[in-house]
Order: sequence, then C-alpha cells, then structure tokens
Amino acid sequence: MARAIGKVAVLGAGLMGHGIAQVASQVGGFDVSMLDVKQEFVERGMGMVRGSVAKFVEKGKLTKEQGEATVSRIHPTTDLAEALKGRDLVIEAATEDPKLKLDLYRRVSELAEDGVIVASNTSSISITLLASATKAPANVCGMHFFNPPQLMPLVEIIRGKKTSDETVEAVRGASAKMGKETVLCKKDSPGFIVNRMLVPALNEAIFLVQEGVADPEDVDKAVKLGLNWPMGPLQLLDYVGLDTTLNITQVFMEEFQDSKYRSPTLLKEMVRAGLLGRKSGQGFYKWNSSADTGNK
Ligand SMILES: NC(=O)c1ccc[n+]([C@@H]2O[C@H](COP(=O)([O-])OP(=O)(O)OC[C@H]3O[C@@H](n4cnc5c(N)ncnc54)[C@H](O)[C@@H]3O)[C@@H](O)[C@H]2O)c1
Repeated sequence: MARAIGKVAVLGAGLMGHGIAQVASQVGGFDVSMLDVKQEFVERGMGMVRGSVAKFVEKGKLTKEQGEATVSRIHPTTDLAEALKGRDLVIEAATEDPKLKLDLYRRVSELAEDGVIVASNTSSISITLLASATKAPANVCGMHFFNPPQLMPLVEIIRGKKTSDETVEAVRGASAKMGKETVLCKKDSPGFIVNRMLVPALNEAIFLVQEGVADPEDVDKAVKLGLNWPMGPLQLLDYVGLDTTLNITQVFMEEFQDSKYRSPTLLKEMVRAGLLGRKSGQGFYKWNSSADTGNK
C-alpha cells in the first residue's frame, strides 16, 4: 500500500524541475527538496523560482507573504541522500538521457525509504525501463508535466508494466493537490498521449517547409487561424527545441518501426547547424537571446 504524500523531492532543477518544485510548494503546499548535481545549478533553479514567484506577486495572483512562503518551502541541495530524507514522493526531472536516468534510479532505490513513490517527468524514455533499475517497480510511474509547469494545467500519469494501482492513485492525488488535471496513459507507450499526437504534427509542418509547399510564417498562420492553435507548430518547435524534437522522433521510429515517424532531413540539418530554436537564438525564427518571447 503506497503511503500518503506529505513531502516531495524534485530531482533536477532545470527548466522543468524548478517549475515542478515551485508548483508543488506554491499550489500543493508541499515541503519540497530540490536536487541538482552542482551548487550553481540548484542556485540557478532557485533563481528561476524566485523570478517566477515575483511575477505571480506582481500580477496579484499571490500575496508577498504567499510568495515568500512558496520559496521558503523549497530546500535546494546537491546531496541525494539529503534530498530523499523523509520524502514520500520523488519527482524525477533530470536530463533526458536513459543512461543518466538509470544510474539515478539505481541510487535512489538504494537510498530511499521503503514505500517511496518515484515518478518520472520523462518525455520519451520507457517508465518500465526506469522502474527496472529499482527494487520496487510497483512504486514507479510517469508524471509528465507540460512546460511551463507553473501554468500548464495537465499532468499525464503513465502506468509502467509493474506500476501498482496505489501508486497511480497517490500520484493522481498529489497532482490534484498541485491544481492539475490528470489523464491516465494505461500503457507505457512512446510519447504517451500528447506527444504521440503532437510530434508527428510538428514533423509534418517541417515537411511542408522542406518540400517548398509553404513558408514557415504561412504554415504557422494557417494552423493558428485554421485550427485555432494558440501558436503555430514551427514557433512551438522553436520553444520545445529542435534537438529535443529530433530525439523524440528517433525514439518513435525505433519503437514503432513506422516510416510515418521519420525525421525530416531539414530538422536533422538544422540541428547539425546548431539552429535549435529559442535556446540557441535561432530555429525557424530569430529569437532575442535573453527575452522570454521572440519576434513571432
Ligand atoms: N523541456 C520541456 O518542454 C519538457 C516538457 C516535459 C517534460 N520534459 C522532461 O523533463 C526532464 C527535464 O527536462 P528539462 O527540460 O528540465 O531539462 P534541463 O536540461 O533544463 O534540466 C535538467 C536538469 O537535470 C540536472 N541533472 C542531471 N543529472 C542529474 C542527477 N543525476 N541528479 C539531479 N539532477 C540532475 C541537470 O544538471 C539539469 O539542471 C526530461 O526528462 C525532459 O524530457 C521536458
């Protein structure tokens, strides 16, 4: 029987990890430890939390006191044993690298107390594979947030081959406490629900440009006005990162063995040229290096 969630650990203080730690504290009221591998990375994560909390306060969505309480409930650390101490739920948001994650799951399994739930925010790595590195695979599942976790209302819960019902229910409860709606992905299938549909759509947008059917601006305009998407697929690709998208299409190809998931040559060329999207300053569009939004 899985334990009720009282305290949370977030492993990884990057783009997703800091946001998950923030929402767990700000909305869920959880006491949160936040781990990264270097002091400068946890400090950068705390800086991003402070910056985001300040925006909530500025907009009147949090009082100054609530903002301070949100930050004070998050405890940054570089020590895994300390991060795991007394925790009921571990949310793993470390770099999307199977080898790195498997090593982390092995160490978590050695150090964590019995009954601790380990939930991965992975976008494409098999939950069953991650669970296989632990002593209690029944306690492992996927808990896939969307970027930015502070604002996006959905969490996909993914059942690995051995995930127990108690684990799913505990993660569903913790997600609800964080103000999130959940959907259950009943099978550990690549891309889960959202990315399984989104990534082929993003790919198809790239093929339209590659084949000279339309310019990027018109592909985005067509999808925004014709399908009512809040942003066009190529702009979204720039936000997600072209390298990340290429990795996902490669996982899809490998797992599904279906040519409809093939990676466009244009995507591969752009990644090779370092045109990764917003994070590198240029993808399908040019971006101001430090600005939150680009010129599109
Ligand atoms: N970026 C997105 O839009 C998005 C959306 C949903 C899910 N995800 C998933 O979230 C996870 C994190 O992605 P991100 O975009 O935050 O990446 P990121 O590179 O911004 O952050 C990853 C962090 O993990 C840290 N890290 C590496 N090894 C670690 C370890 N052993 N212990 C603790 N921390 C470690 C890194 O130092 C880095 O700070 C990935 O699995 C990714 O697939 C990303």
